[in-house]
Amino acid sequence: MDRQTRDGLKRAAAEAALSHLTDNAVLGVGSGSTVSFFIEALARERPPIAAAVPSSLRTASLLRAAGLPVVDLNEVGAVDVYVDGADRVDPRLRLIKGAGGAHTREKILAAAARLFVCIVDESKLASQLSGADVPLEVLPVAVAAVRATIEAAGGTAVQRAGRPTDDGNLILDVGGLNLDEPECAEVVLDAIPGVVECGLFARRPADLALCAGRAGVRMLRAAP
Ligand code: 5RP
Repeated sequence: MDRQTRDGLKRAAAEAALSHLTDNAVLGVGSGSTVSFFIEALARERPPIAAAVPSSLRTASLLRAAGLPVVDLNEVGAVDVYVDGADRVDPRLRLIKGAGGAHTREKILAAAARLFVCIVDESKLASQLSGADVPLEVLPVAVAAVRATIEAAGGTAVQRAGRPTDDGNLILDVGGLNLDEPECAEVVLDAIPGVVECGLFARRPADLALCAGRAGVRMLRAAP
């Protein structure tokens, strides 16, 4: 799929999320290119939201540039609706996130959300999460120790190049792990000392996914 086609699908999924906003909702806003299309749609359509809680500095700056009211999660405690993209989605709407390195703050918002709406193009759907890398946000002092722990468990860990996360931490992209039971993998990865948060969203999956494909946008709910 070429970039233009994929961006068109991302835009369609993002625009479909507008109809899932309740009046005067406190809205959590994720990060990434699909979310950027969502912010464009918010700026254009101006649905009546009470405030927006951003999951990253980049999202905060896009929301402010669009003239939308931005608040901190500590000011509101919870969000009514959380809208975010994903890198991989399984049939139970368990996710892998973090290609943009914002998954820790994103997971906090997902956990604080009454409704979690995931917006993706159809290339993100997969029958299982296994086979994909899982990003770990890691304290800088713990990178070597976390890498050693992952390698001792038979996995691989590659430190991502580029700037640190919004909270000054580093990202290790971890491959070769068994993700057949992603809830267990999430608990195990998050328990490694020095790991701030892993990019598995299995214990708090999305409530619904808006998935854009050539035939239109489908609304998916978790398969039992
Ligand atoms: C950032 C994320 C993004 O939501 C995820 O990477 C999807 O990004 P995009 O919409 O650009 O494909 O988890 O941490």
